[in-house]
Amino acid sequence: MTGTDEAAHGAVDKAPAGTEEAGKASPGAGGTGSAVPLLETRGCGKTFGGVIALRDVSTRVHAGEVTCVLGDNGAGKSTLIKILSGVHPPDSGAYLVDGAPAAFAGPRDALDRGIATVYQDLAMIPLMSVWRNFFLGSEPTRGRGPLRRLDAARARRTVREELRSMGIDIRDVDQPVGTLSGGERQSVAIARAVHFGARVLILDEPTSALGVKQAGVVLRYIARARDRGLGVVFITHNPHHAYPVGDRFLLLNRGASMGEYGRADVTRQELTSLMAGGAELEQLTHELGRDEPPVTP
Ligand SMILES: Nc1ncnc2c1ncn2[C@@H]1O[C@H](COP(=O)(O)OP(=O)(O)OP(=O)(O)O)[C@@H](O)[C@H]1O
Ligand SMILES: [Mg+2]
Repeated sequence: MTGTDEAAHGAVDKAPAGTEEAGKASPGAGGTGSAVPLLETRGCGKTFGGVIALRDVSTRVHAGEVTCVLGDNGAGKSTLIKILSGVHPPDSGAYLVDGAPAAFAGPRDALDRGIATVYQDLAMIPLMSVWRNFFLGSEPTRGRGPLRRLDAARARRTVREELRSMGIDIRDVDQPVGTLSGGERQSVAIARAVHFGARVLILDEPTSALGVKQAGVVLRYIARARDRGLGVVFITHNPHHAYPVGDRFLLLNRGASMGEYGRADVTRQELTSLMAGGAELEQLTHELGRDEPPVTP
């Protein structure tokens, strides 16, 4: 338990492996030297009828790094991840996977290339056990032909080992998923994606419905997945969740990019005020007459 916490904590603070210059990236440039990004969008755009959901957005996802996508409601975050996860092709610009143009017919194609998306509703069955939810149709079997049977013992063991290796402490893999906390459910979904060979993990607002402690749990597993060498795309509207784990930060506002910042280029405070709403919140605080008193030494 302590080991887990230490490892996860260390991971959060450490610089991304082999990315000496990542932190020094200037807005829009964010790069890791010559390494080919796992995913890259170049000037991607998407419209729905008359609505421009995304306009000229460029970003990259590297192995062993967390790319945070930040923006207020309607900023285009989900639209961007739908492009990354093969749900929609972009209307303009290019989407590259491992440096080559991607031609996905759907999310299944993206998953086959190791791009796994964990949606907020998680597609889990609450009354079914943790281990059943973990496999959902891909359970290990033994025997052949008509004698082929579910290998429940191996399934349970695999889930236990996989959860443990991610530092997830769930006592009983037979307990219904519905009895887990939101953070634990997210963690099981992350462990599942890692187990099934994800190279890229896309998480759409995994912490938005969680309290501080549970959000911390999920942030630890994000760091853990990153340390295993996965490229992580973490969507959130909360800079306080993004900052501790992010290596680069893509800010979206009404479908347009407001820049991509390396970790060393931006403070948590700057990230907060860069976000749509940061300036408005300051204005609102002022309007409501609740400005903080000046700090006197
Ligand atoms: N399938 C669709 N049809 C029509 N408009 C859409 C569709 N998907 C998204 N939009 C519009 O595109 C814009 C961006 O939406 P998107 O869901 O990407 O935002 P978001 O940043 O994920 O917001 P939230 O934080 O509320 O989830 C919004 O104005 C939305 O109404
Ligand atoms: Mg969304």
